[in-house]
Amino acid sequence: MAIILLGFMASGKSSLGRKLAKEVDLPYIDLDQEIERVLGTSISQYFDQEGEAAFRKIEGEVLKDLSAQEAILATGGGIVELPHNRDILADNGQNIYLSADFSKLYERIENDEKNVRPLFLNNSRADLEKIYQRRRPFYQDLAHLKIDVNRPLEEITQELLTYLRKE
Ligand code: S3P
Repeated sequence: MAIILLGFMASGKSSLGRKLAKEVDLPYIDLDQEIERVLGTSISQYFDQEGEAAFRKIEGEVLKDLSAQEAILATGGGIVELPHNRDILADNGQNIYLSADFSKLYERIENDEKNVRPLFLNNSRADLEKIYQRRRPFYQDLAHLKIDVNRPLEEITQELLTYLRKE
């Protein structure tokens, strides 16, 4: 089973996932990248053309396949939206929630020129905060470990390694 990283957009799932994978010598899988591979197009383009509901369905299918792998799996922030996806996550043994304040995350989303998220483009700041508040209890309930990510990556990695060694 995968070690699954959960958290809102820009919480640092990919950076932590890559670093952690090296430390524990497991493959790193980025769910969004895998989805783009399956779709043959970018997530932004798919959102535009097919809409969010269609994206969520594919996201769930890819999650189901990949959660069975021995790997570090970084998910997209909206993975907890569908009950079906939450059921898959609930069956997984190691879910790590990367937690941060909304204002910090918003600043990072806004400044991320390399990854302009469709939800950022399609929602006001207030609407995005509502989405954050709605998802928070899901991340929280599904997590076996919650990590405050408003700290240097090295520190976060060490905390996670300590946790994984105890498991
Ligand atoms: C989404 C988050 C994105 C990506 C898609 C939808 C979301 O991933 O899956 O744009 O609904 O929060 P990141 O959390 O890696 O930005």
